[in-house]
Amino acid sequence: MTASFSQAAESNKGPIAEVLAHYLRAGDLLEFGAGTGQHAVWLAQRFPSVRWRPGEQPENLPGLQHRLDSSPADNLQAAIILRAEGHWPEQQYDYIYTANTFHIMAKPLVRRCIRQMAAHLRPDGRVFVYGPFNQAGNYTSDSNRRFDLHLKQRDLAMGLRDQEWVVAEFTGHRLGLLATHEMPANNRLLVFG
Ligand SMILES: C[S@@+](CC[C@H](N)C(=O)[O-])C[C@H]1O[C@@H](n2cnc3c(N)ncnc32)[C@H](O)[C@@H]1O
Repeated sequence: MTASFSQAAESNKGPIAEVLAHYLRAGDLLEFGAGTGQHAVWLAQRFPSVRWRPGEQPENLPGLQHRLDSSPADNLQAAIILRAEGHWPEQQYDYIYTANTFHIMAKPLVRRCIRQMAAHLRPDGRVFVYGPFNQAGNYTSDSNRRFDLHLKQRDLAMGLRDQEWVVAEFTGHRLGLLATHEMPANNRLLVFG
């Protein structure tokens, strides 16, 4: 088996690590939508005191686990099934991280995902959401506009979310926006807590 590979994940993992370095201390982290596992492998190596638990949909779990097995680390835990619409582990986490998932899931699933994140975060925990966002209903770049149209051609339920809507959903669960980090290629890393 070969694990699938994402060039985007390869390009953005370094800048994401630079931002996370300001926040991550020893603790338990749950990754939602870990995809190819490139972020999990890289970030677990970069932050050895963080116990990194990647989660994915069942159909992508074998490929993800294959990548994790090819780069084992003491703090890199086995992948678990994690779906926005499914059952989440009983455990709570110091950190919950997700990259490039909110524009893939339909809005009701993003809403459910945020509710689950809030329910599984320890007091004083942090949620990190990386990806492209709209601002006040507007695209922040031409490339994001083209990407949004491309997504909607695949599936009308997909699409870039307004940052204000995402913030309102988290705030509804008593998690406020602590920081907005501008990232390369017109992405952002939002920090909630
Ligand atoms: C664009 S990929 C991003 C993967 C990885 N985080 C990255 O940045 O390279 C979106 C991921 O979201 C996951 N996903 C989509 N819908 C989901 C759902 N309803 N519940 C859980 N994960 C979902 C997909 O399986 C996929 O791995």
